[in-house]
Amino acid sequence: MTNVLIATEKPFAPAAVAQMSEIFEKTGYQVQLLEKYQQKQDLLEAVKTTHALIVRSDKVDREVLDAAEKLQLIVRAGAGYDNVDSAYAKEKDVCVMNTPGQNSNAVAELAIGLAIYGLRNFFDGTSGGELRGRTLGLHGYGYVARNVHRIARGFGMDVKVFTRFSKAQASSEGLEVTKSLEELYAVSDVISIHVPARGEHIKSVSMPVLKHLKKNALIVNTARKEVIHEEDLCEFMTKRKDVKYLSDIAPDCVDHFQSEFSGRYFFSPKKIGAQTSEANVNAGVAAAEQIVGFFENNDRTFQVNK
Ligand code: 3PG
Repeated sequence: MTNVLIATEKPFAPAAVAQMSEIFEKTGYQVQLLEKYQQKQDLLEAVKTTHALIVRSDKVDREVLDAAEKLQLIVRAGAGYDNVDSAYAKEKDVCVMNTPGQNSNAVAELAIGLAIYGLRNFFDGTSGGELRGRTLGLHGYGYVARNVHRIARGFGMDVKVFTRFSKAQASSEGLEVTKSLEELYAVSDVISIHVPARGEHIKSVSMPVLKHLKKNALIVNTARKEVIHEEDLCEFMTKRKDVKYLSDIAPDCVDHFQSEFSGRYFFSPKKIGAQTSEANVNAGVAAAEQIVGFFENNDRTFQVNK
């Protein structure tokens, strides 16, 4: 019997859990659900007998991997897998997958929502600005950024992008690719960040880039806090009182924002970008199907730790 554990500190919508369970029931797999857990110990207990694990942003570190003696597959139902120690998983011969693109529209809609919220001065009743006619700079061009591009065009924005790896894709969609990240920050009214918390992207939003920002620019971050150089951002926002920062993920220096940048920032209380029923169903069903494909046909298409 194949055991599957769905461990989500931030639960999926009930519709997603129901559809995932149906897939596993059909194949005769046993499903265990661990939702809203508060203690790591609960996860350590639950993983002991599982062969496959589905998580969202739940931390799967060495301790969890060591406790999961029977584990063969982890599927991060979502895009960013920085929460999983995938190198250690590889050492232990545990396959790690993500479900790329499945929740990207939800995150993209939130990015646009945050841009509107910032331009309308956090809905405080004062005179704000519109998306139409403004320049949107996409920092990165993965699945979320592509959806932001599609939506922003509908709003009449002029969209530009800086990307190293998806230049051909961006150009084929009629997007201007700037020569540098600095140039993107210099020409954009709204910057929307869409790079993963990996490699060169870590702390890539730093002073050498920020100093080029246009007057009254907004930075929207629905990616990860790790891509921001927080000390530089704080120093920059101290100097540049016209700039606002809206993020789906509070920075570590949230206290500094509270004391120094009142009225110029917004942080979601919990990461909500992918927290829609549709995104949960898409990512959850994809995760369930990938698990069945792995155990029945050794399908490793979405493996990220090869
Ligand atoms: C992702 O990487 O897919 C998003 O950040 C969503 O994360 P979540 O599943 O924790 O909401």
